[in-house]
Amino acid sequence: MEETNINILSEQFDLYMKKGKEARAKGNVSLAKRNFLLASETMMQMAKQSQGKLKAVRMERARGLVKISENLQKAPEKTGKSDKKQDEEDDDLKKWQAAQIPNISFDDVAGLEDVKKAITIKMINPTKYPEKYKMYGKKTGGGVLLYGPPGTGKTMIAKAIANEVGAKFYAVKGSDIVSKWVGDSEKNINSLFEEANKQERAIIFIDEMDSLIGKRGLDTHNDKRVNEFLQQIDGFAGRNPNLLLLGATNRPWDIDSAAMRSGRFSQKIYLPLPDAPARKFMIEKNMKGVPVTKNFDVDKIVTQTEKYSGADLEELCDRAKDEPLLKAIATDKVVLVSNADFDRVLDEMPPSVTEKEIAEFEKYNEEINGYIKKRTKKQS
Ligand SMILES: Nc1ncnc2c1ncn2[C@@H]1O[C@H](COP(=O)(O)OP(=O)(O)OP(=O)(O)O)[C@@H](O)[C@H]1O
Ligand SMILES: [Mg+2]
Repeated sequence: MEETNINILSEQFDLYMKKGKEARAKGNVSLAKRNFLLASETMMQMAKQSQGKLKAVRMERARGLVKISENLQKAPEKTGKSDKKQDEEDDDLKKWQAAQIPNISFDDVAGLEDVKKAITIKMINPTKYPEKYKMYGKKTGGGVLLYGPPGTGKTMIAKAIANEVGAKFYAVKGSDIVSKWVGDSEKNINSLFEEANKQERAIIFIDEMDSLIGKRGLDTHNDKRVNEFLQQIDGFAGRNPNLLLLGATNRPWDIDSAAMRSGRFSQKIYLPLPDAPARKFMIEKNMKGVPVTKNFDVDKIVTQTEKYSGADLEELCDRAKDEPLLKAIATDKVVLVSNADFDRVLDEMPPSVTEKEIAEFEKYNEEINGYIKKRTKKQS
């Protein structure tokens, strides 16, 4: 999986910080907020590529920036909206449309056949076989919610969907809509749907759905967002067959239950931890082209990593390369990666998703979809 070079990220971070500080000095709160949040997001990406203490420091810095942006005071509202504010909101809307869709396809995504199939039926085949769809009176578009533990590929598959489906892709994070536009978020949900509805074919992808539409009754801002969201989703469901709403969350139980009802998110798909073939695929992908010992045994690692998520496997492979790489630098020779390198990292790297969390997901999945994925049974 391609990562943005740390130097590029660092440059981006400096730029966002500079813009954020300039905007703050000029009293342009929304622009300052936006840039500090972008800086925070960039710092988070840098943290994800780091390890140990540096990782912790970077995560802390990223969180600190969210706080800074939250604490910025809104300038006193004048009556009527200035052109400038409107321009900014328009810019925000444009930003939602993924500028460059990363080069990820379904073939890069291990397993997750249910999701691939659902998207193929709802969005890819209708354009390929319109007369067949007509003949069967098959409905297209609608809402699909992806849920599962962290690091199981929800965000990744959304990006792959954007590539596979030749549609306009609006990607937003629930937490972004909420933190950028406290009080304004209902209006922005509305304009997001409006904008997407104008397109011939569009996908709205809302990541971290739980932070956008939490259970009602605890927070008035949230309740307003939920009501707006329900209106929007009811408005487009059945009306625009070319609009797909894709939501992702790792806290599905926090989402307001009315939004989960059939006809809204008519399909709710569980993304479990990867099974053995999926793990093998991911380990091989992460080790592609890397010099390994002759007797390097991928299947052994597959067996050792039963409860590891895709994100864990990525980190595992990355960390296993550390020591051979350092030795290669020190000796200026090719040092092969071996199973021992993996054993060493595995000793100090437990799976990030706990048994308790997995149980919680499987229970939830059973309640929602009426069955539990018999994933583990299939494994050797
Ligand atoms: N099914 C998969 N196939 C290939 N790679 C995967 C898969 N699942 C996870 N990964 C790897 O793990 C990384 C993290 O996955 P991703 O960000 O999509 O997780 P997520 O489910 O969105 O997690 P979160 O709930 O924390 O947002 C990806 O960049 C990818 O390298
Ligand atoms: Mg994600």
